[in-house]
Amino acid sequence: MKIKVLMICLGNICRSPLAEGILQNKVNSEKISVDSAGTGSWHIGNKPDSRSINVAKKHGLDISAQRGRQFIVKDFDDFDIIYVMDKSNYSNVNNMARNKSDSSKVKLLLSESDTEEIEVPDPYHDSEDGFEKVYQMINEVCGKIASKLENKTI
Ligand code: 4NP
Repeated sequence: MKIKVLMICLGNICRSPLAEGILQNKVNSEKISVDSAGTGSWHIGNKPDSRSINVAKKHGLDISAQRGRQFIVKDFDDFDIIYVMDKSNYSNVNNMARNKSDSSKVKLLLSESDTEEIEVPDPYHDSEDGFEKVYQMINEVCGKIASKLENKTI
């Protein structure tokens, strides 16, 4: 059975589309599928932010076909692991959990990293540099997640 991973941020236009594209590109898509969603509803149906599309493109990834959607309770049934970008996303998603099994699926993305940082910062109000920094953070941790998933140590 496929392992299903969901990446969550606030708007589903900056961080989680990058996380979806980056992780999906590092794993065997026959074994692992990656999706993303936002806790907010402002960007349902929208393309990722042009700055996320551009930074992904710079690193050889096309995320332009992704469209924003909002996290729903059914996602707890449909996904095995739910990675959130920051503590606010963590509270928002965890508050929708129906039981301990739902809650146990929710993890901060950077909890899989060896770095001191806990959150992937929201780059929405930043310059292009903020998007490159976020790309690097997500790329580093997704490398670790990809090998853990392949070795079944998550
Ligand atoms: P994201 O960034 O959560 O990384 O997609 C944001 C995008 C849009 C908004 C907030 C954060 N917004 O308030 O519209």
